[in-house]
Amino acid sequence: MQENIINYFPIKLNKRDNKRKTQITMTKKRRIRFQFCFVLLSYVLSAQLQPYDTIFIPQPAVTEKANGVFYLSNSTGWFTGNVLTQADLDYLRGILNIQFNLKWLELSTYKPGAIRFTEASDTGMDLEAYELNIAPDGIEITARKGGAGFFYGIQCLLQCMAASQNHAGSFALPCMKVKDAPRFKWRGMHLDVCRHFFPLDFIKKYIDLLAMYKFNTFHWHLTDDQGWRIEIKKFPKLTEVGAWRNGSMLGAYADQNFDTLRYGGFYTQDEIREVVKYAAQRHIVVVPEIEMPGHAVAAIAAYPFLSCTGRQIQVEKAWGVFNEVFCTKDSVFDFLEQVLEEVVALFPGQYIHIGGDECPKLNWKECRHCQKRLRDEHLKDEHELQSYFVKRIENFLNSKGKKMIGWDEILEGGLAPNAAVMSWRGTSGGIAAAKLKHHVVMSPGKPCYFDHYQYQPKTNEPLAIGGYNPLDSVYAFEPVPKELSASEQKYILGAQGNVWTEYILNPKQVEYMAVPRMCALSEVLWTIPERKNRINFLMRLKRRIKMLDPMQVNYAKHFLKQ
Ligand code: ACM
Ligand code: ZN
Repeated sequence: MQENIINYFPIKLNKRDNKRKTQITMTKKRRIRFQFCFVLLSYVLSAQLQPYDTIFIPQPAVTEKANGVFYLSNSTGWFTGNVLTQADLDYLRGILNIQFNLKWLELSTYKPGAIRFTEASDTGMDLEAYELNIAPDGIEITARKGGAGFFYGIQCLLQCMAASQNHAGSFALPCMKVKDAPRFKWRGMHLDVCRHFFPLDFIKKYIDLLAMYKFNTFHWHLTDDQGWRIEIKKFPKLTEVGAWRNGSMLGAYADQNFDTLRYGGFYTQDEIREVVKYAAQRHIVVVPEIEMPGHAVAAIAAYPFLSCTGRQIQVEKAWGVFNEVFCTKDSVFDFLEQVLEEVVALFPGQYIHIGGDECPKLNWKECRHCQKRLRDEHLKDEHELQSYFVKRIENFLNSKGKKMIGWDEILEGGLAPNAAVMSWRGTSGGIAAAKLKHHVVMSPGKPCYFDHYQYQPKTNEPLAIGGYNPLDSVYAFEPVPKELSASEQKYILGAQGNVWTEYILNPKQVEYMAVPRMCALSEVLWTIPERKNRINFLMRLKRRIKMLDPMQVNYAKHFLKQ
């Protein structure tokens, strides 16, 4: 990985060109003037801001100033009154200790000066909503019992503590009232563990990051051409063979260079359960992605009968789209149903992601099984055959009580009756699906692909897949397209940031690409548009990002100079 040294205003002096030198000097003066104005403007703006304007990411729906300060220290009591779940309690105790070196002083009854958790009297309150009331004589977090509201109130309290910590390790929290609830139901971040594999500890760290910014969905991309990463007991070769490749691409795709190192790894079912539990304790649902009918090379390398040709192939070393895909014969459906049966048992969330993207139809055109299927089912073409494939899988998942979601190619040839669509090739797939009254998660390449560059010039950045999605464009993203009527808009469940890892080699690089863009996305997903403000967000981000330092998060730092 390249060093993250950013030359914000590169000036290349050509000594022989005096005219150019003068122009450059002028540009430099203008730049200094601009920087001065910006600093002045930021100063004026921040002088007018209330303390609570400078604290939270994502910005809450309502923050009201109150008078005074609450002093929090090791002698502050915590009264949970049996309304916190054990998971919330364990999380809170752990993070106070790790992040703030603060002891837990549990009270059996509430005393003034303590922090207390109260069950909301309003039983109609959103399960993710909360109120945080910081007063000089106590702090109260109110939410529905059993929902995520307490957890999100805790996140706000933690951000407030980080903002108010003095050097002696105690805290002077500005008094305020916060009333908050999220804008969207699907607040997602994705991670591809196939192109590069990441250890379990990192998956947990990633989930911790999601939790801090109130994401509630972790989309775990578990199977692809370059590796099958989930243990399936009935088909052990999926991981014995499919989880390993005999080399990886080095550098840019255009160079077509490869090493010859055996590369791979997978998660056992016990590890998957551990991740699902860890995420659930942080109010995050894990959506597994099992790719079909394309991006199936690793599975076919393990079980060649799964393809149309039956040829023995190798787990892919290159990135791309490959012609070897699942055949549409019955034995493949039998196989996939048995795989999905194990997957369904591991992931308690509503949704299973079945991929559905980038499936070349070449082999289907020449396969006697696929052509017979086409005739028997009276299908017009191979697009309808893909639709048949996806509908048949949806039928199976629905019969197991699960909902299916897929990339927007699942619209081609006709959408499965209950499917949700993840719109990645822009927003048009999402718009079409919403008009058909199907649920949609917006994840357009621009700006939701965090494997794209985040800063220019690209030559100063670690090699990435291409594209350019700077922090500002993520912050400006609006998941609900204007093209939709009010009744269609309600099909937009939310949005998601995607971290594909062809060019992302290790956890540190994942962090670099994901943070702070995911912080900007968190505000897109949580905060009502009227409460968003780019300059204010940048200021909060600069102040709050230090919260990640004890976790040793390798966030990209360009914005600190913005
Ligand atoms: C995708 O990026 N192929 C969904
Ligand atoms: Zn076939």
